[in-house]
Formats: sequence, C-alpha cells, structure tokens
Amino acid sequence: MSRSVLMLPGDGIGPEIVAEAEKVLNKVNDQFDLGLQFETGLVGGAAIDETGEPLPSDTLERAKKADAIVLGAVGGPQWDKLEMAKRPEKGLLGLRSNLELFANLRPAILYPQLASASSLKPEVVSGLDIMIVRELTGGIYFGQPRGVRELDGGERQGFNTYIYSESEIRRIGRVAFEAAQQRNGKLCSVDKANVLEVTVLWREIMEELAKDYPDVELSHMYVDNAAMQLVRAPKQFDVIVTGNMFGDILSDEAAMLTGSIGMLPSASLNSEKQGMYEPCHGSAPDIAGQGIANPLATILSGAMMLRYSLGEEKAAEAIEAAVSKVLDQGLRTADIMSEGAKQVSTREMGEAVLAAL
Ligand code: IPM
Ligand code: MG
Repeated sequence: MSRSVLMLPGDGIGPEIVAEAEKVLNKVNDQFDLGLQFETGLVGGAAIDETGEPLPSDTLERAKKADAIVLGAVGGPQWDKLEMAKRPEKGLLGLRSNLELFANLRPAILYPQLASASSLKPEVVSGLDIMIVRELTGGIYFGQPRGVRELDGGERQGFNTYIYSESEIRRIGRVAFEAAQQRNGKLCSVDKANVLEVTVLWREIMEELAKDYPDVELSHMYVDNAAMQLVRAPKQFDVIVTGNMFGDILSDEAAMLTGSIGMLPSASLNSEKQGMYEPCHGSAPDIAGQGIANPLATILSGAMMLRYSLGEEKAAEAIEAAVSKVLDQGLRTADIMSEGAKQVSTREMGEAVLAAL
C-alpha cells in the first residue's frame, strides 16, 4: 500500500528541520516497509516569493489528496508588512481551515534527560506529561466580522470576533474526553467563563459531554489561573482542552516547562484522522540558515504522524526511542544545551537520530 506524505518546509528554520525529519522518516519507511511516498510543496513566505500567494492552489489540492502533511514553519520579518490576508501565516491557517483540522494535539512531555534545561526546578517538572487539546479552526482566529475600520471623526478601531458554535465545541470536546480516557482520566477545560459568554457556552457543553464519559474527571479553570498553575504545579494536569487562542498561548507556556519549545511536536487532525504535523515552534528567523535549530520537534511530529494518521505505532515508537537515545548520549542543540553535554548542529542531531534507529 502506498501512502503519500506532503512535506511543506516553509520559512526560516523550516527547511533545515524538515530536511532532518525527512531523512528520519525515509529510514523508518525502509525499516518498517511503510510504503510512504514523499513530495514537497510551497507554503508561507516561500510560496509568496514564488507565486504571490501564501497558500497556492496547487499546494492546497495536493494537501487535500495527501494521507498526511509535515509542515516546518511559516513567517518572517520580510513579509510582516504585507496585508493580513497575504501574510505567510495565512498559508498555515488556510491549510488548517480548508482541511478542517480542528483538533490540535500538543503533548508537553519532559524527557528526564532534559530536566535541567527547564526554567523550573527539576522536582516541579520531572515526570511531566500533559496533553493540550487546542481547538484549531474556530474561535477568535477565524471569527467574523474582523478588521480595522474608521469611526466617525477618523479614529481607527480594530476588531475581531470570538465565536464558537455548539457543534464546534462538542467535536473538540469529544476528542479531549477520548484522549483523557486513554491517559489518566483527567480533563481540565480552560475558559474565561467569568467574563466571556462564548466560553460560558463552552463550559456548558463540556459539562453536557461529561455525562457520556463517566470514567473521565472533568474540571474547569479560568485561563489566567491556568497560566499560573502551569508554572506553579504543572503536574496537576493530564489533558487540557481549550479554544484556539488560549491554546496557542498555553501551549507555548507548557513547551517551556519541557526545557525548550524546540522539543514540542503537534498533530492537527480532522474527523477522518487526516492530519498535518508540525513543530509547535515558529520559523525562528533570528537563527535561520545557521544550522543550529533543534530538529527534534519536527522529527517527533513525524512520529505523531505515523501514530495518528498512518496507524504505524511501531515505527512511531522507534523514532521516539531513537530521540530518547540521542539525548541519553548527551547530544544537545543550542536551545537545550547544558553543562557537560555536547553541542551539535541541526544536521548532526538528525544524523544521530538516524544512527540510533
Ligand atoms: C502556532 C503558531 C500559529 C498560531 C501562527 C504561526 C499562526 O503560533 O501554531 O501555535 O497562532 O496558531
Ligand atoms: Mg503558537
């Protein structure tokens, strides 16, 4: 059986880290006889430079047909002056919405070898294993109306709409309850129900769903408190479910608990389990082209792809074990470097994972 994987390197460090992930995926493809066919496409700033569009129709068509997508990162200062609809980020957001990738899974796991790389005390983070389930195709990111308008008198006013329908809340809720069932049975729904009506409804629907999952213990937390609890006592969390914007913010915060955002993979799934897999970090233009970026989040995203979209659990575990092994060997990219470890480049890290496979 042949399955197609669309690689979208994008911008900044994207091409460097995706190259390493592709090598690793190629190797498990051979080792486990997965029958994966890789192709490459343009998205983000790279696509704007070539075609004038952040999401060329050719890329979108191929993405729809692919069994899974691996994306590096999009964006950079050279495109920041473009109008919102033409920015690199629209390439990513367009893929998410056109493929209806509403369920974003962002696991924050602390590798024991990296306990000292976390900015928190080792005892606060050791053993940390949180799954953030972020709604990805709704909320304030996509709500209409939006824009900047001119008021009488000439003053400009910017506005966005934070909006969720019941069905959108219900489908992300189900993903989160099911994730909790497969983990430690605890789900914390994060909202701002003391201020925002849209999240009062969110809370209501989560309560309603809880009746279908008696084995899951549901709790609720306001987002400001959740941000605080994540740095105070992060191990209280098992699965967190939240809307698009809160999930964006809390997942960066959770990433840092694990030592570096360079370690965090993600999966974005639709109801057919077709998925796009990307590191949680951005394009890091400040270090692009220097060969020092951490490719592990992208490599681990490849493992998530094998697990969630392609049903290849063994190959996924092999990649994860190989990553753990190179960390055991003391190899570190700059972002996770600590005393006594050996600093390596992006490529050396990729090669080490290959060797460990
Ligand atoms: C992320 C990123 C994106 C987001 C940006 C690049 C549009 O921060 O995947 O977390 O805000 O969703
Ligand atoms: Mg983000």
